Amino acid sequence: LIDKKVDSIMNLMTLQEKIGQTVLYSSTEDVTGPVLDKNYQTYLKNGQIGAIFNAMGSAFTRKLQEIAVEETRLGIPLIFGYDVIHGHKTIFPIPLAESSSWDLELMKKTARTAALEASAEGLHWTFAPMVDIARDPRWGRIAEGAGEDTYLGSLIAKARVEGFQGDNLGERHTIMACAKHFAAYGAAQAGRDYHTVDISLNTLHNVYLPPFKSSVDAGVATFMTSFNELNGVPATGNSYLLQDILRDQWNFDGFVVTDYTSINEMVHHGYAENLEKAGEMALNAGVDMDLQGGVYKNHLENSINQKHVDIQKLDRAVRYILRMKFELGLFDDPYKYCDEQKEKEIILHPDHLQLAREAARKSMVLLKNKEQVLPVEKESKIALIGPLAADEFHIIGNWSAKGDREGTAVSVKEAFEEKGISFTYTKGCEIDGNEVDFSEAITIAKSSDVVVMVMGESERMSGEAASRTSIQLPGQQRALIKAIKKTGKPIILVLYNGRPLDLSWENEQVQGIIEAWFPGTSGGFGVVDVLFGDYNPSGKLTVTFPRNIGQIPIHYNMKNTGRPADIPGANERYVSKYIDVENSPLFPFGYGLSYTSFAYTKPELSAKTLNTSDSLKITTKVTNTGNYDGEEIIQLYIKDRFGSITRPVKELKGFQKVFIKKGETKTVTFSITADDLKFYNNDLKYVNEEGDYDVFVAGNSDHKFTNSFSLQLK
Ligand code: IFM
Repeated sequence: LIDKKVDSIMNLMTLQEKIGQTVLYSSTEDVTGPVLDKNYQTYLKNGQIGAIFNAMGSAFTRKLQEIAVEETRLGIPLIFGYDVIHGHKTIFPIPLAESSSWDLELMKKTARTAALEASAEGLHWTFAPMVDIARDPRWGRIAEGAGEDTYLGSLIAKARVEGFQGDNLGERHTIMACAKHFAAYGAAQAGRDYHTVDISLNTLHNVYLPPFKSSVDAGVATFMTSFNELNGVPATGNSYLLQDILRDQWNFDGFVVTDYTSINEMVHHGYAENLEKAGEMALNAGVDMDLQGGVYKNHLENSINQKHVDIQKLDRAVRYILRMKFELGLFDDPYKYCDEQKEKEIILHPDHLQLAREAARKSMVLLKNKEQVLPVEKESKIALIGPLAADEFHIIGNWSAKGDREGTAVSVKEAFEEKGISFTYTKGCEIDGNEVDFSEAITIAKSSDVVVMVMGESERMSGEAASRTSIQLPGQQRALIKAIKKTGKPIILVLYNGRPLDLSWENEQVQGIIEAWFPGTSGGFGVVDVLFGDYNPSGKLTVTFPRNIGQIPIHYNMKNTGRPADIPGANERYVSKYIDVENSPLFPFGYGLSYTSFAYTKPELSAKTLNTSDSLKITTKVTNTGNYDGEEIIQLYIKDRFGSITRPVKELKGFQKVFIKKGETKTVTFSITADDLKFYNNDLKYVNEEGDYDVFVAGNSDHKFTNSFSLQLK
């Protein structure tokens, strides 16, 4: 039915009107690249724009929608898009943080809530989730994804898409999601943003593409191309990605938008001779909408008239876009999200702030707890120190949409006050300054029982265009820790950051480390809940923390090499290792402590052989052996010993987050089928291969295999 409706509109459209549907412009200068053209309202009146980004508020979006619906010849409604990445006004922890909760329902809920608030402000579309696998902490955008693992990343992609889009886009308060950035943006060389990507097709298919496929399977409405080139061809002109994989293999039927001016950038890449050619390449490859670049608007008409591109390519793009406008219900009610009363009721609703607190505390990872320095006694004399302790600005992190910073966001200091905790406070130093007068900090530390130091990065140090060549604490923060350490008081470090940091030095100096990431609007409450034990931390890292930057790339599922360092009898020198630091990371993937402890039994297997039509049950008992009730993220890892291509040393194949009371034992069972063991071989066929597989179940990725089975293809 929708296709018929689309056809009937298409039949009425002029060439210019068709091109208009493929054009997306920003309504403000709140942008992340060049502002190419400020005349968007004139274009809108002329029917030359199909979608707008950065416009919001029900009054303003209504005003623009009225122009599209009432003043243009065909009255085709606009789509309003925006970067609603981890919340809209209520801000949840940054995506990398949230992924550390391994709580798919939670992530779905926060995306749903973000959609609720965004739609209440007139928006129909978010440029999220970012589903790029990222393994390089120098890359600032690692903050926006779900970490380094493809299996977990694919599940999180699905949860987020379903959260934003609800059961179907016709429902109220759903918004279109956008799987981005297609593809392999996270593999930018040396972690430098927008940089070249040169990876094997095998790595592309096994590591980077599955979260995108999972987004398609979850019904994602749109895709965004990435800025990078992939093996010599910019993603925005890449028909292998956009046609062969996305359309032909995966049957994606939503539309594809560029990342910002990435059509134009094909000229700088040295791939297109000029803008007109770049537009032709993009349309031919399968880009449906041009975000801010103005190339389709300014050049496509000529390209089509000159027969450099086939009008059918344009028709196809317009069809995809119009179909989504129908699915959103915009032709029935173009003003469906322009309701000022709803806007007031929904934005920053107390339930959303409560959810933000839950998400914040569930996202935190306890990295160190020497001699049980944590949780802190509420009655202790606490010195609260650090450039981020009273902060309400950086706490919500980068890409915080329209999140209120000073005002709604709750700092750690404010949360201490609200909880009636007595403490003394001083800032101690700036995040990134050179000031070294630590005298007040030393004085208050001296008269305390315990020092809580809230430190880290500024929000501008991660996110887009925020790559770093040092991933240590910036400025004088280490010097401040050193000075406080001299007082002999125990130190608990609470960290805000958008990437794994090099914490080797800090790990030696302090007694406790809570990785709080950028925890969002209710982040201060989340920190305080964890600090004082009102919430027992359960987060686990979804990305490896290296010992130093020289270990990068480092991730848990690397290859073994021909000279692994850890095989018995290996020559000590001529093995694959560094001479100055061990191969293992500081904190591995999957790692995170609790205030309690858990003991695992060896996993029992339901059979020693798995056939293609069967499933294998892997069962472990986990006992809470400590003094607190707590949640544990129980992880299943499998190793394929041999393959027609070499296989990773281990791969996450399942996990369960289980609440276990102190003293209690729970039995956890995973079910594995042959499909779970498939991979892309060198012919890019998704296959099973017979052979032996090793297994372990544990609380993080750094464990030895304890059982095994064989896969038989029958
Ligand atoms: O959605 C973003 C993208 O992730 C990076 N470049 C700009 C886009 C629109 O703001």
